[in-house]
Amino acid sequence: MSISRSILLRASRSQWLARQMAERAFAKRAVRKFMPGEDVTDAIEAAQRLSSEGLGAVLTQLGENLTSLGEAGIVREHYLGVLDQIAARGLTASVISVKPTQLGLDLSLDACFEHLDVLAARAKSVGPGMLWIDMEDSSYVDRTLDLVRKLKGKHDNIGVCLQAYLKRTPADLDSLLPLSPGIRLVKGAYAEAPHVAFPDKRDVDLAYYALAETLLASASRGQAFPVFGTHDRGLIDRIVSRASSLGVKDKAYEIHMLYGIRAADQRALATAGRTVRTLISYGRSWFPWYMRRLAERPANVWFVLRSMV
Ligand code: FDA
Repeated sequence: MSISRSILLRASRSQWLARQMAERAFAKRAVRKFMPGEDVTDAIEAAQRLSSEGLGAVLTQLGENLTSLGEAGIVREHYLGVLDQIAARGLTASVISVKPTQLGLDLSLDACFEHLDVLAARAKSVGPGMLWIDMEDSSYVDRTLDLVRKLKGKHDNIGVCLQAYLKRTPADLDSLLPLSPGIRLVKGAYAEAPHVAFPDKRDVDLAYYALAETLLASASRGQAFPVFGTHDRGLIDRIVSRASSLGVKDKAYEIHMLYGIRAADQRALATAGRTVRTLISYGRSWFPWYMRRLAERPANVWFVLRSMV
């Protein structure tokens, strides 16, 4: 891992920096590159604009590691409201993605399951909507996958993120495939020890493609619903070509990217017939998430410095 990436990821855990940045106008200006605004209505309006360009959306409220179960209940009510707005505005290509720690995972596995259970049922009732579950750092993987296995016993619209940089992911994928899950494959965004995750980007890219091949082979038998969450255009082109050689139908997999990154590629892929969704984040707790975006491409720091002046 590069020094700049590791410094930015360490900074992402600083409460002091988070408080400082939240007050600074230049920081808010810089964050706008990756999010349309802090309010959910900003995100819904962006989803509406994207829909007119043939792109779906995934909405997610920023925030992680809550300190009381009451806060988790508020987050659940918030997402229920978002699902109602999606239905009211006819945004059939919009879904939600949630972080387990924002729904109380640190405090009670049962309470977190109950919140996810309620959200999955509402997501299904407002349309064919998936409930996507983010993957946080490696200490949460076992608990998150336990939740997914339990939820899959009740709902068919559950999807979970798996991170290619984790050395355990091939085994996790094998154990999940019999459940015909939705899997959003990403490279991985957290600071992890080298015995847990590949430190070298080349190894992560190789692991990503190997996992993508496994997912596509399962999708060709109707046994998985893969989503490729990446902005790596070379990788996407190889995946699309592999999908076509395996006879995986265009609608049987999706490509997801983040708001504000490679927007032209998102439109071009949609025009070429791929199903593309843009993950739109919103909310006031943007600091750790924003630092992870800077760490993915330390050149983004220059953009922040420019925003200061
Ligand atoms: P890579 O880092 O190789 O980037 C490829 C190219 O994309 C770069 O060369 C650059 O041009 C562009 N790019 C990438 N990141 C950029 C940035 N921040 N700013 C500007 N350009 C950038 N992670 C996680 O651990 N848990 C999760 O739940 C999720 N969820 C998730 C959902 C979706 C839809 C996406 C797209 C990503 C995530 N991630 C995630 C983040 C993921 O793990 C990863 O950190 C980023 O996607 C960056 O990796 P790429 O795959 O884009 O490749």
